[in-house]
Amino acid sequence: MKKILVIGAAGQIGTDLTLELRNRFGRDHVVASDIKLASDDIMQQGPFVKLDAMDSKQLQSIIDDYGITEIYHLAAILSGNAEKNPKWAWDLNMNSLFNVLDVSRSKGISKIFWPSSMGAFGPTTPEWDTPQVTVMEPTTVYGISKLAGERWVEYYHHKYGMDIRSLRYPGLISYKTEAGGGTTDYAVEIFYQAIKCGEYECFLSEDMALPMMFMDDAVEATIQLMEAPADQVKVRSSYNLGGISFTPKELADEIRKYIPNLEVTYKPDFRQEIAESWPRRISDEAAQKDWGWQPQYDLEKMTRVMIEKIREKLGK
Ligand code: NAD
Ligand code: SER
Repeated sequence: MKKILVIGAAGQIGTDLTLELRNRFGRDHVVASDIKLASDDIMQQGPFVKLDAMDSKQLQSIIDDYGITEIYHLAAILSGNAEKNPKWAWDLNMNSLFNVLDVSRSKGISKIFWPSSMGAFGPTTPEWDTPQVTVMEPTTVYGISKLAGERWVEYYHHKYGMDIRSLRYPGLISYKTEAGGGTTDYAVEIFYQAIKCGEYECFLSEDMALPMMFMDDAVEATIQLMEAPADQVKVRSSYNLGGISFTPKELADEIRKYIPNLEVTYKPDFRQEIAESWPRRISDEAAQKDWGWQPQYDLEKMTRVMIEKIREKLGK
């Protein structure tokens, strides 16, 4: 029987992914873990354990205690926060991955999910319709850690026969948990500010197009990849995931269909430079071809759901 451990379950993706995994595989079959407490939903609905992803003894005993068979390892420092403390980000992003890989290998874990990011690309990568295999010269510590991680998960697969699966997520947009310190966080913050006060100061320039995805699509892609037969998973580094490409101005215009008086000012900070080093739009042809990936959300649909859910959440 499948028994899943989610590491980083209190985070932006971890919250939505844990709830959906429990929905599909049963509450008691999905153990949530994080270094901090998770949302009330997650804490009350099923098992939760405090875990530092760097601690191999703790990880081993959780695997034994709960009979864990699969791990989703989501703990990481995102791009914006990583640039503020590069060595700390490198340490956590790389050594937690090695910990999960090595403990999983010794415990015979059958499948592991570990996310990469569009941040693994760099300024020399083709910006539009970025292909699966291309130049990758990331200039952020976050991107360097993701590219190194991609090489290592492929290495563990080839060398030790481990079944590790990965996606290069674009910027993720969701309403259950706030975004965790990345360059794409503006696309979540703008909804809260629009609904709360009708004003937002954006830290990227108005014409900075980036690949983005609504969380329901990201969760669906993750579970679909993890449930695909092993012979369909041909990319053993990390699959491109495309999503929706838009600029802050295009997003603001879409939100104005619901909040016509929204005022947005643009004050690019250090994250503008990070964004400029990433693709504008990503091609996920390989994911479509290998395991049938098809996203469901465009800018219009995503905006409608975000406005509705955040209004509900804030009682506005
Ligand atoms: P997040 O910052 O919201 O969540 C990360 C979680 O990891 C947090 O709850 C944090 O408490 C936990 N954590 C940190 N250090 C830990 C440790 N030592 N032990 C255990 N838990 C620890 O991040 P997220 O947005 O949910 O991202 C999850 C993964 O997806 C990361 O690998 C990230 O790089 C990747 N990703 C995210 C996005 C995005 O837009 N959110 C895009 C591309 C890739
Ligand atoms: N959303 C993430 C970030 O901005 C991309 O990996 O860091």
